[in-house]
Amino acid sequence: MQDNSSFKNTLKLYCERVDKALDNWLPRPSGPEAHLQEAMRYAVIGGGKRVRPVLVYAAGQALGLPLEQLDACACAVEIIHAYSLVHDDLPAMDDDDLRRGRATCHRAFDEATAILAGDALQALAFEILAKDPAMNCSADNRLQMISLLAEASGSIGMAGGQAIDLDSVGKTLTLEQLENMHCLKTGALIKASVLLGAMCSPEVSAATLERLATYAHCVGLAFQIHDDVLDVTADTATLGKPQGSDVEQNKPTYPALLGLEGAREHAWQLHQQALQSLDIFDAPADTLRQLSAYIVEREH
Ligand code: IPE
Ligand code: IPE
Ligand code: MG
Ligand code: MG
Ligand code: MG
Repeated sequence: MQDNSSFKNTLKLYCERVDKALDNWLPRPSGPEAHLQEAMRYAVIGGGKRVRPVLVYAAGQALGLPLEQLDACACAVEIIHAYSLVHDDLPAMDDDDLRRGRATCHRAFDEATAILAGDALQALAFEILAKDPAMNCSADNRLQMISLLAEASGSIGMAGGQAIDLDSVGKTLTLEQLENMHCLKTGALIKASVLLGAMCSPEVSAATLERLATYAHCVGLAFQIHDDVLDVTADTATLGKPQGSDVEQNKPTYPALLGLEGAREHAWQLHQQALQSLDIFDAPADTLRQLSAYIVEREH
């Protein structure tokens, strides 16, 4: 297993790489749309852990792919994620004022601009997947990837999970319902990140994809469980978003249902399951292994 400092270097390399690619894809503000384009840039650039692009790169590299073939998928998933955060923070949703250590998009701009920035970002993600010339894949493969990201973002993915989240405020969900909500609102996009990275390889087998899907299911759910834990245990300055937002809004969360220790234990078990699902891979999957640990240990 690579040591912790080389893992950190890998993370830094991936983050810098996706930041540069995002800057290239985002429109330069100009003309009458400049205000909207500034809001799009504000939502995407300068902050964020970039976990989803990092998962794209790590999955692709586990299968031996060069980074330039993975840039488009890395950008597409981060852009969908950034759009989901802009809308998640809106007054009609979580009504939060702080994101990534600064004013949320609708506070820095205005509500209508934030809604439109989310809309335009969502479209941009699919534009990138449809036309990036560096993706070394057939038209068929590209279509499959576009359709995977669409499903992960839509009513049977992120948006569906967000709808369940809003509808569940003040209710006590069963563990099964809570798991379903988390798998949709957060897990779907994380799973798509891993699978898109793998699908960039033309000869990836169904068996490999199945293992990676199990890995991604586990880390996706663990990611949101840990996000719920941090909402209770971390502080606003470290989080860069308001601590206690879930409790204040009476959101159904893992700590609310299982207690803090129960939630932490559940996330840890998922991390172990994620590791098991990678046992057919050798050293090239080490970054995926370390990412799974990072997801349940991170401080923000
Ligand atoms: C926050 O995601 C929203 C969830 C889906 C839990 P991240 O914790 O990945 O947020 P950034 O991108 O690092 O800001
Ligand atoms: C958000 O979940 C999931 C998304 C699809 C954006 P949260 O509402 O818990 O995310 P944070 O805590 O505001 O980042
Ligand atoms: Mg929310
Ligand atoms: Mg929120
Ligand atoms: Mg949260």
